[in-house]
Amino acid sequence: MPKKILITGGAGFIGSHVVRLFVNQYPDYQIFNLDALTYAGNLANVADVADKPNYTFLKADITDTEHIYALFAEYQFEAVIHLAAESHVDRSITNPLAFVYTNIIGTVNLLNAAKNTWKDISNRNHRFYHISTDEVYGSLEHGGYFTETTPYDPKSPYSASKASSDHFVRAYHNTYKLPVVISNCSNNYGPNQFPEKLIPLIINNIQQKKPLPVYGKGENVRDWLYVIDHARAIDIVFHKGKNGETYNIGGFNEWKNIDLVRLICKIMDKKLGNPEGTSEQLITFVTDRAGHDLRYAIDASKIKSELGWQPSVTFEEGLERTIDWYLENKAWLESVTSGSYQKYYEEMYSQR
Ligand code: NAD
Ligand code: DAU
Repeated sequence: MPKKILITGGAGFIGSHVVRLFVNQYPDYQIFNLDALTYAGNLANVADVADKPNYTFLKADITDTEHIYALFAEYQFEAVIHLAAESHVDRSITNPLAFVYTNIIGTVNLLNAAKNTWKDISNRNHRFYHISTDEVYGSLEHGGYFTETTPYDPKSPYSASKASSDHFVRAYHNTYKLPVVISNCSNNYGPNQFPEKLIPLIINNIQQKKPLPVYGKGENVRDWLYVIDHARAIDIVFHKGKNGETYNIGGFNEWKNIDLVRLICKIMDKKLGNPEGTSEQLITFVTDRAGHDLRYAIDASKIKSELGWQPSVTFEEGLERTIDWYLENKAWLESVTSGSYQKYYEEMYSQR
C-alpha cells in the first residue's frame, strides 16, 4: 500500500477525523495534511496529532496550480485522499463561484498533479481517493434509496460542483487510467463540525438561548452518520476498495428535520437541567432554502457486502457523544463563532 499519503481538507470537520485515524492507526505511513485554512479549517481540530512524527501540515490552496505541483514534486505523495471543499449548501447559493474554484478547479489541479507525478500509473501503490456526497444524486421523494448507479441529478450549486468533480475523477480514470476510487456519503454529524450546519447550529443556539431556525416546515429528511464511522469507512475504502469503483456510505438513519431538532431540544433540556419543553420554545420556522432537496437516503449495502463496513455507533449514542463534546468544548465553539481562531493561526503561520 502507498505510505506517503496526502490528505486534503484535514483541518476541516471530516478531514480532521480522517487525519487522526490515519496518523494514530498507521505509524509507518507519512500523513501530509494539506489545507488552505478557510473559515472552515481549524488546526485546533488536529492539535492532538500535530507533534506526531508521521504528521506534517502543509498550508496550501488546491486552486493554486504552481504551489500544488511544487508540493507533489517535493514530497512525492504516493496517494491522495481528497476532502478539501467548500461544503455548505447555503453558502453555495450566495457565492456559487467559490464552489466552482475549489470543488471543480481545485480537484482537477490535484488530478493533474497526481497524473504528472505518478509516472507509472499502473503502479498498485498509487491511489486517488475522492470524497463525495450523496447530494450529487439529487432529491428523493418518500420512497427508495440512492444506489451507486442512481443517475446524477444535482440541484444546488454545491452539489453541481461536487457532481462535476466526480465526473472529472472518473474521466481521469477512463482517459489516463489514473487509479481512482470515489465514495458518496450521507450527512455527517459529530465533534468539530462547524456550527453553520444543522446539528451544531441547534446545539449552539440552545446554549445561547437563540432562535432555532427550521427551514420551511421542517419536513425535509436527511440520513445521518456519525463522523467517526465515516472516517472508518474511508480507511476501509482506501485500503480495500477496487480501482474505478464507487461506494455509497450511510447508516440507514433517516430523520425529518423537525423531529431531529425536537430530539436535540429534549436531550439538551435534560443535560442543562431545564424543564422539558424549554428549548422547543426557541424553534422558529423560517423561509425555506431555495431549491431545498426534500430527502436523501443512502443504500449502503455495497460497502457492507463487498468491504465489510457498517456503522459502529447508534444514532442515540452518536448524538449523545456529539452534544457532550459541544458542551465540554465551549472554548472551541466560542473561537469558531467569533473567528478568533483564524487570527491566531494567521499570525502563527506568518511567523514561520
Ligand atoms: P468542511 O467545510 O468542514 O472542511 C473543508 C476543509 O477544506 C476545511 O478545512 C477548509 O479549510 C479546506 N478547504 C476549503 N477550500 C480549500 C482550498 N481551496 N484549498 C485547500 N483547502 C481548502 O467540510 P466537511 O464537512 O468536513 O466535508 C469534507 C468533504 O466531505 C467535502 O468534500 C464534502 O463535500 C464531503 N462530504 C461532507 C459531508 C458532510 O455531511 N459534512 C457528507 C458527505 C460528503
Ligand atoms: O448529504 C451530505 C451533505 O450534507 C454534505 O455533502 C454537505 O457538505 C453537508 O453540508 C450536508 O448538507 P445539508 O444541506 O443536508 O446539511 P445542513 O446541515 O446545511 O442542513 C441539514 C438540513 O437542515 C437541511 O434540510 C437544511 C436544514 N436546515 C439547515 C440549517 C443550517 C435548517 O432547517 N435550518 C438551518 O439553520
